[in-house]
Amino acid sequence: MKIIVANWKMNGTVDYINDYFDKFLSNVKIVDSEVIFAVPYVFLEHIKKIVKNQNIKIFAQNCSHEENGAFTGEISASMLSSMGIDGSIVGHCERRKYGENYEIINKKIKILTKHNLRSIICIGEDDKEHKEEILEEQLEKCLYGIENYKNMILAYEPVWSIGKNHNLDLEEIDNSIAIIRGIVEKLKFEELKILYGGSVNKNNVREISAKLNINGVLVGRDSLDPMNFSQIVNFLE
Ligand code: 13P
Repeated sequence: MKIIVANWKMNGTVDYINDYFDKFLSNVKIVDSEVIFAVPYVFLEHIKKIVKNQNIKIFAQNCSHEENGAFTGEISASMLSSMGIDGSIVGHCERRKYGENYEIINKKIKILTKHNLRSIICIGEDDKEHKEEILEEQLEKCLYGIENYKNMILAYEPVWSIGKNHNLDLEEIDNSIAIIRGIVEKLKFEELKILYGGSVNKNNVREISAKLNINGVLVGRDSLDPMNFSQIVNFLE
């Protein structure tokens, strides 16, 4: 069973969403996989109403590490849970860029778990030369003090590979996935599912799934096109 995640980032309007799901749902055939749409908060409820497929889950792209209180503009795990949302991405590098660190990400994972929500935890280096130590530090910090990880998914997204139009260096990525599997095993999280994200598209998904030892993919830009994303899902299915 593969996990295929669409991260829409800061994109979409109500009209776009209606048209998107008309096309996506009539083209996609999901039997065994799980498809997750991580969408902007304001569209969560609308999308939940139009998507009735049991194999499609709706996630937020972030959530607060605080329970509730004077945190203007933030959204809490209990709010997401009360709306029937399934989980959230945490620690995306586009948020780490603005100061979110792995101590905070660890709190986010714990608060999501407390409210029975799932988390997709993003890790990934910006500096290839220090890859191993960076990945080890990120994993140790974000998994600190966590015992039950059944609601958690790890996403390896090397910062240098996101939002690019290049041929993926699959040798390098394969090596990173092996390093990550070694670290999670050492930390006793050996069953943790691992996704790859960074410039995945309908043209390279075949090569990616053939080469990498992964449980699925996290797609940015190509998930915004319903035809391309349905092709990715149908291929991995
Ligand atoms: P792209 O697929 O656009 O490179 O984005 C990847 C990503 O950041 C998914 O979270």
